[in-house]
Amino acid sequence: MNLQGKTIVLVVTGGIAVYKAVELLRLLTKAGATVQVIMTRAATEFVTPLTFQTLSGNPVHTELFNLIQEQEIGHISLADRADALVIAPATANCIGKLANGIADDLLTTTVMATTAPVLLAPAMNVNMYQHPAYRQNEQKLRQMGCQVVDPEQGELACGWQGTGRLARPEVIFEAVCRLCAPQDLVGQTILVTAGPTREELDPIRFISNHSSGRMGYALARAAQRRGARVILVSGPVALDRPTGIELVPVASACQMQQAVMERVEACTVVIKAAAVADYRPVQRSDQKIKKEGERLVVELERNPDILAGLGRLTRRPLLVGFAAETGDLQGHAAAKLAAKNLDMIVANDVTQEGAGFNVATNIARLLFRDGRVEELALMSKEELADLILDRVRGLLG
Ligand code: CTP
Repeated sequence: MNLQGKTIVLVVTGGIAVYKAVELLRLLTKAGATVQVIMTRAATEFVTPLTFQTLSGNPVHTELFNLIQEQEIGHISLADRADALVIAPATANCIGKLANGIADDLLTTTVMATTAPVLLAPAMNVNMYQHPAYRQNEQKLRQMGCQVVDPEQGELACGWQGTGRLARPEVIFEAVCRLCAPQDLVGQTILVTAGPTREELDPIRFISNHSSGRMGYALARAAQRRGARVILVSGPVALDRPTGIELVPVASACQMQQAVMERVEACTVVIKAAAVADYRPVQRSDQKIKKEGERLVVELERNPDILAGLGRLTRRPLLVGFAAETGDLQGHAAAKLAAKNLDMIVANDVTQEGAGFNVATNIARLLFRDGRVEELALMSKEELADLILDRVRGLLG
């Protein structure tokens, strides 16, 4: 997600997980955010402010009564400028203070003074995490409107096993994006299909295509950030499982069809970004096919067209299709839009550099039911995902 124009105040409290806050800072700045870092004294014992200063490009705020910083910025000004305030890692001590309204340092005064959304990413020993005092404090902060990115399970730095490990930087980053995104898809249930399908020949071999699933996953993540309930029906891909999204893994086109049809009634929008195999082997051999003659002929039969099936439903959701073409983009895409009874189709010429499978960008043309055509420039799949959702929002009215 593009965080250009957003100011994030990243508060770093003292714990071994401080090094992960460095990675979070990098993700935020890479997304275009202006990041102001506040470090508690304890945090500076783990990683020096210089690291955060260099990566954020801004001075790090460490003391409440630092005369120069107070004059130039001040904790109130920091609190006012924030679009979101993220505390990562958040120690039991800092959460205890915040829950009880204590404001005796830069961190606590800034959090109390801000009206921006506050996100906590706790990290601590498993027994501290389970302690009733901590549990009550976290609960109190949730009730006050703070968002919490739960810690993960695993081996902790203190040697214990259990819950308490700071969430991964990508997970916290995703939560920050959600805080900054417009909540214009709240109330919508959006089903996205992504990735290729696999049509098996035998237990070892299959027919598939080059789809990486990136476009579909970007759409699913963007829709979730914008407040939609998202169901992601995904073919086999090598992408991280997105958090907070209902993921339905499938392999073949028939499995994808079943997964979509079972869920479509609950959906207001279906976006079919998957590259579905049009054909499957007539026979799947239970045993590995052994090489015999010089040639092997595989007979294929048509797979169901999932999207066309959705277009025939009497009560159908808003339908968005994709068309990956290698020629006559406009003609093929327009024909698919009409034949499948779609509201919109995202067409791209996969022979163009920067478009198509397995790249991070795309060059798309959007065609609408009413004949409108929108030509888009080269952009990242994340940017395109948000743009498609803007148009979906417009079509939903
Ligand atoms: N699609 C589908 N089921 C299929 C084939 C395609 O749901 N069996 C969907 C795709 O997810 C995509 C749209 O239909 O959103 C267009 O897919 P594409 O493969 O470009 O078109 P086809 O209709 O399969 O036509 P062709 O392969 O002949 O270009």
